[in-house]
Amino acid sequence: MSFAQVPVRTPRLNRSELAVPGSSPHFFEKAAKSAADIVFLDLEDSVAPDKKEEARKNVIAAINDIDWGDKTLSVRINGLDTPWMYRDLVDVLEQTGDRLDLIMIPKVGTAADVYAVDVLVTQIEQAKGRRKRLGFELIVETALGMMNVETIAGASQRNESLHFGVADYAASTRARTTNIGGANRDYVVLTDPDPEGRRQLHWGDMWHYALARLVVAARAHGLRPVDGPFGDFKDPEGFAAQARRAAALGCEGKWAIHPSQIALANEVFTPPAAEVEKARRILAAMAEAERAGKGAVQLDGKLIDIASIRQARAIVALAEHIAARGG
Ligand code: GLV
Ligand code: MG
Repeated sequence: MSFAQVPVRTPRLNRSELAVPGSSPHFFEKAAKSAADIVFLDLEDSVAPDKKEEARKNVIAAINDIDWGDKTLSVRINGLDTPWMYRDLVDVLEQTGDRLDLIMIPKVGTAADVYAVDVLVTQIEQAKGRRKRLGFELIVETALGMMNVETIAGASQRNESLHFGVADYAASTRARTTNIGGANRDYVVLTDPDPEGRRQLHWGDMWHYALARLVVAARAHGLRPVDGPFGDFKDPEGFAAQARRAAALGCEGKWAIHPSQIALANEVFTPPAAEVEKARRILAAMAEAERAGKGAVQLDGKLIDIASIRQARAIVALAEHIAARGG
């Protein structure tokens, strides 16, 4: 290990994160009763400009009046380049109690964006005597944000998670797709002909670079990496495949832009029972190896060593966290 330690920020389940437009209060109660780990009430892109003020009022009332149970509750404010952002923070933080857990900041481009919001949030918390310190969820969804993702990740002690906002990222990089997330039939490799002259198309993942980069920056700062939206909510298989790719890279969860995506995300980002069982066996085998004074042993014909303990501990800790939340 490096001498530099990376403490993990506030641990929270973040397998599914349900987006709820602030202009649609009729969805709020259902969101509170859903199985999503985190709900974010949106003041940004799902709310039309002429509905911004009304949405803000709805969100304030929802934070104060709805029973959110043990849900982690977040509000997505408008971007720093809009005339709405400051009032989102001032009104929401001055007019709500301590139920809110997180502020989601969209389109973060530089570390200074996070710093600016931190200044404002800190002042309002102090002035209003808010007791619960708010955490930040940061959406990285522009070319500028991706270029600066490392410094953004380290920009505030409030930072908890980085989110890949694939829709805006595609717009910002002018990626040739109008699909939100998922595969692209143009992002393929055409193989050379085989001896019979046959060629194949291998689909690639056009989001791999961005997501992998975000995962590294997040983990290097003790933050949760989270994959963003998948637009086609009538394609559960496509959603699950994208979620599994994100999980394979190290993401802890994925957004749900429709309630039907919540269970899919929870399933993909919950370690399967067989994986947890294997992790427990690795820990037991390594404890035995330690007693015998060995650093590495075989389990099921494969080598395991001290690095395997770290992987296994992470899986068991996640399984226990999920169990403690009631599955
Ligand atoms: C989310 O905000 C996105 O742009 O994908
Ligand atoms: Mg966006």
